[in-house]
Amino acid sequence: MSGNGIGDLRGIIQRLDYVADTGFDAIWISPIFPSPMADFGYDVSDYCDIHPLFGDLETFDELLATAHERNLKIILDFVPNHSSDQHPWFIESRSSRNNPKRDWYIWKDAKDDGSLPNNWESEFGGPAWTWDEKTQQYYLHTFLRQQPDLNWRNPEVVEAMHNNLRFWLDRGVDGFRVDAVIYLIKSAKFTDNPPSTPGSFWDKLGRRLSPDHTAHSQGTYEQIRLMRKVFDEYEDRVHIGETGGTTNFAQLIPYYGNPLDGYDIPFNFSLLFADWDATQISSLIREYYAVIPEGGSPNFVMGNHDAHRIATRYGYENHRSVAMLLLTLWGIPTIYYGDELGMEDVFIPVAERIDPWGINKPDEDFGRDPERTPMQWDASPNAGFTTGKPWLPLADNYKQSNVAMQSADPHSTLNFYKTLLRLRRELSALHIGSFTFVDNLAKDVLAYVREADGMRLFVAINFGAETKEINISQITSDSKTLLSTDFESYRGTTINLPAHQSVLLEI
Ligand code: GLC
Repeated sequence: MSGNGIGDLRGIIQRLDYVADTGFDAIWISPIFPSPMADFGYDVSDYCDIHPLFGDLETFDELLATAHERNLKIILDFVPNHSSDQHPWFIESRSSRNNPKRDWYIWKDAKDDGSLPNNWESEFGGPAWTWDEKTQQYYLHTFLRQQPDLNWRNPEVVEAMHNNLRFWLDRGVDGFRVDAVIYLIKSAKFTDNPPSTPGSFWDKLGRRLSPDHTAHSQGTYEQIRLMRKVFDEYEDRVHIGETGGTTNFAQLIPYYGNPLDGYDIPFNFSLLFADWDATQISSLIREYYAVIPEGGSPNFVMGNHDAHRIATRYGYENHRSVAMLLLTLWGIPTIYYGDELGMEDVFIPVAERIDPWGINKPDEDFGRDPERTPMQWDASPNAGFTTGKPWLPLADNYKQSNVAMQSADPHSTLNFYKTLLRLRRELSALHIGSFTFVDNLAKDVLAYVREADGMRLFVAINFGAETKEINISQITSDSKTLLSTDFESYRGTTINLPAHQSVLLEI
């Protein structure tokens, strides 16, 4: 909106009607706080203000009020694991060994031979330790060296961070997504992490080590419960955690707390890292549903700012089926901006990368720039995102694929999402209904029934590259199409579902 090429609060205010009309309930905004931007805002130098790039507190209050008028919730991003190295706390902490804030971060001597305190690695490549020349100790950073880890074993840190949350909750924000929370409390013994097992979740992410001594500790689960108490000082605030760094549900489920005194939504990334394969996806869903605690809500994340675009990762031909799955499963869905248009990754040459992760690992495919390109609003220069030079290049196809054109095309991906979101809102079977798999209908087909208030819905997703004949006479004598990815109407008890398509039927 300001023309500086970066999205901002005023720009969000202008687009709130779109967000509400599309059928979303809430917006989660990645960090908008003062920051040197070493990791695009995930390096916070002041937790209680707005970065001038994005606006100011007054504009934030206006955003909140305007969103609330439209029944939209605003969720902010809280970054507790680390601050910026430019945060006044860290500047004090590194100023001398006996500064009162020294213990607010994690400092360690070198080993006797002068080497690193242990083998822990930064999520973004290289050691997790940086040497401080002046005070002759290492500090820990799970991410960049500009993101020193706060010491959550220090009660003063806990209190100060809780007060940072209260600052925004007092202002009326509807909740927080809490960043990288799995790392909050690390091993007090600083035990080396073991190598990651080939084929494991961490191995697939390109990590040499498995974070057994840095992630998902009992101490972290305990801190989540304490943080939740802060949310409970207020009415109706949602507590969401970035807990998805695991496909081991035994590590994920404790984030709900017991009894449900942790996260309302502990992000489940199991499908985000799965292949687009009916067997793999159905077993992950089954396993997950089996362990959801009584009264807890499942949730699914299939796209975000850290993962390649759905339409690229699962194949463009499958992108609507991904939406069909995400929005008809039992559980709260999260949608990344632009996925509702079928936006794809934009190739960014190594020399033009701006994401520090991508820059640190130039030979690898880890850069996050491709999925962060500007929202494609219309066919005007820079897709209506900015009048200046956009911070990342636009997709080549933005003139053919944008909100304006897709809104006018009844068979667009945007209208597909809108219909699904409306059905989800209107039909209790979709949001609170029971969920039952219908097995063995056809190879490469995932199918299930959702049922509530006397209504039965049937979903079938064809993961394969061939048409599949699906016979549902065992479960119904007739059917009616509510929506299908190809906008065809299917009827009766034999459905010939083309390759990559999916259908939602009332049965
Ligand atoms: C989370 C964020 C990611 C960020 C990292 C460090 O994983 O989603 O974007 O780089 O934490 O804060």
